[in-house]
Amino acid sequence: MINAAIVGLGKWGRNLVNSVQGKSDVVRFVAGATRTLSKAEAYAREKGLRLYHSYENVLADPKVDAVVLATPHTQHAAQIVAAAKAGKHVFSEKPIALTAKSAEAAVRACARAGVALAVGFNWRFQPALREIKRMLEDGRLGKLLHLEGNFCGPSVYRVSRDHWRQARDEAPAGGMTGRGVHVVDAFLYLAGRIESVHAQSSRRVLDYGIDDTTSMLFRFESGATGYLGTVIATAETWRMQIFGSKGCVEVSDVEHLTTWQMKACHADPAQLHVHHKPQLLSFPELSTERAELENFARAAMEKRPLAVAGGDEVHGVEVFEAILRSANSGKTVRIGAKKA
Ligand SMILES: NC(=O)c1ccc[n+]([C@@H]2O[C@H](COP(=O)([O-])OP(=O)(O)OC[C@H]3O[C@@H](n4cnc5c(N)ncnc54)[C@H](OP(=O)(O)O)[C@@H]3O)[C@@H](O)[C@H]2O)c1
Repeated sequence: MINAAIVGLGKWGRNLVNSVQGKSDVVRFVAGATRTLSKAEAYAREKGLRLYHSYENVLADPKVDAVVLATPHTQHAAQIVAAAKAGKHVFSEKPIALTAKSAEAAVRACARAGVALAVGFNWRFQPALREIKRMLEDGRLGKLLHLEGNFCGPSVYRVSRDHWRQARDEAPAGGMTGRGVHVVDAFLYLAGRIESVHAQSSRRVLDYGIDDTTSMLFRFESGATGYLGTVIATAETWRMQIFGSKGCVEVSDVEHLTTWQMKACHADPAQLHVHHKPQLLSFPELSTERAELENFARAAMEKRPLAVAGGDEVHGVEVFEAILRSANSGKTVRIGAKKA
């Protein structure tokens, strides 16, 4: 059993605690830390958490094996390095860092300290996404040609002008840090490394805060192409469509955490006169948050690395940085040469 501390007891930190507390054989939360203690005291009592005001106190607690970071984006990279130095396994909410250099430093600090590092890309535990991966691997979709995704919602209306999520350094390229990084990570899982990106990003609705309309075109190293949009001054919705030479699949809904159905359609070039109706595939419900935390806890117990140098977690941040550079310059940005 891994004894974890939750760092950041806001909306998502509590969601992570709730997903496993009293339900898991491999991970439990024993402590927590937040900036404003008064907001979290009742919750910490209810969940049996020792509550700390400072991150340093969490790291000094010998009964804490691992920290789970659900703090503002600009804090993640330094908090990961500090956890590694204190010998704690670390699960960080996305994004692990806002620059590839600091992502690389965070991953290396964990490797040096021999602690596990995981990133909160819970979409990877969606049964539908795993099935798409299998369909690509066993040839049911044929050659991967193109991926499309969007992840949108009314995010900019949800938080006030002075909330950290409205600060442009916390959320460069608008919805990318909050939402779009999930789709990029799903694309990396399905299609491998991205070679280049052409992005645009602007604020069109409010007269303050972060960009609300961000979109981009990708070229993958495999030759596949893709595009992604994240509009965060509109209604809640998301969609992914994956196109292969033998068919396409689509997952979409208004609720990204509880989507258990997928539409699949096949094309047989030898029988083009046959009209294929889409198949609707359903998957058993599960908590992707619990699945990702238990996966992290098992890796920590086995001292098995998850995020590693040159892996998707770091490449995802390279892609994110390239999106920013492209949106700022108006030019297509190539993402470094392949790492050995
Ligand atoms: N994987 C997913 O699907 C998903 C979904 C939502 C969020 N997230 C991620 O979870 C993380 C936290 O997001 P959230 O929505 O839970 O945020 P939130 O509700 O605003 O909570 C942020 C927490 O960090 C604390 N904090 C520490 N320093 C702060 C500072 N300088 N400014 C503001 N708050 C500070 C806050 O303390 P006080 O409030 O006590 O002052 C609070 O406990 C982010 O990385 C986000 O991207 C992931």
